[in-house]
Amino acid sequence: MTAMKRPILIHPDPRLKRKCAPVADLSDELRALGNDMLATMYDAPGVGLAAPQVGVLTRLIVLDCIKEEGETPRPLIMFNPEIIASSDTLNTYEEGCLSIPEHFADVTRPAEVEVRWIDRDGKEHTEGMDRLWATCVQHEIDHLDGKLFIDYLKPLRRQMITRKMTKMKREMARG
Ligand code: NI
Repeated sequence: MTAMKRPILIHPDPRLKRKCAPVADLSDELRALGNDMLATMYDAPGVGLAAPQVGVLTRLIVLDCIKEEGETPRPLIMFNPEIIASSDTLNTYEEGCLSIPEHFADVTRPAEVEVRWIDRDGKEHTEGMDRLWATCVQHEIDHLDGKLFIDYLKPLRRQMITRKMTKMKREMARG
C-alpha cells in the first residue's frame, strides 16, 4: 500500500480547535491514515503530526523525533495516546507547528512523561519519553484536544501570530 501525502490545515481553522474522538475500532482506513500522516510529516519535514492537522478529528498522532543524519528512524503511529504521568521537572523547547509555519516560540512543559497508546496492530504500549520526544508527544496530544502551542503564549503574542497567519492564508487563497 502506497502512502499518500495529505494537505495540512493551516491555523486559524475551526477543525484545529476541536476535541477529537477516541478510536473505537482500528480499521484499515485508519491504518492507511497513519501511514499517510507519516509520509506527510517526513515530507514537510516535521517530527510530529496529529490527525486534526489533516482534517480528521480522531485521536491519532504520528511521531519521529530522530533528526540526526545516519540515525535509524523511529516512526511511531499512536492511536488514543494518553499522558499517564508527568515529571515535576520542566523543560523549555522552542516549538513550531506544521499548521503554523514560520512561527516559533519557547514553551515549557514537563521534561519527562509516561505515555500509553495503541499501535497499528491494536497492541497497547506504555513508554517513558524525555527530551524532544516528551515535548513532541505532549504537543501532538494537545492537538487532539484542540490546543495549539501558541495557546501557551501571552495573548498579545498569540493574537499577533494568528493575525499574520490569517493574512498569509488570504494571500495563499488569492494565489
Ligand atoms: Ni503542531
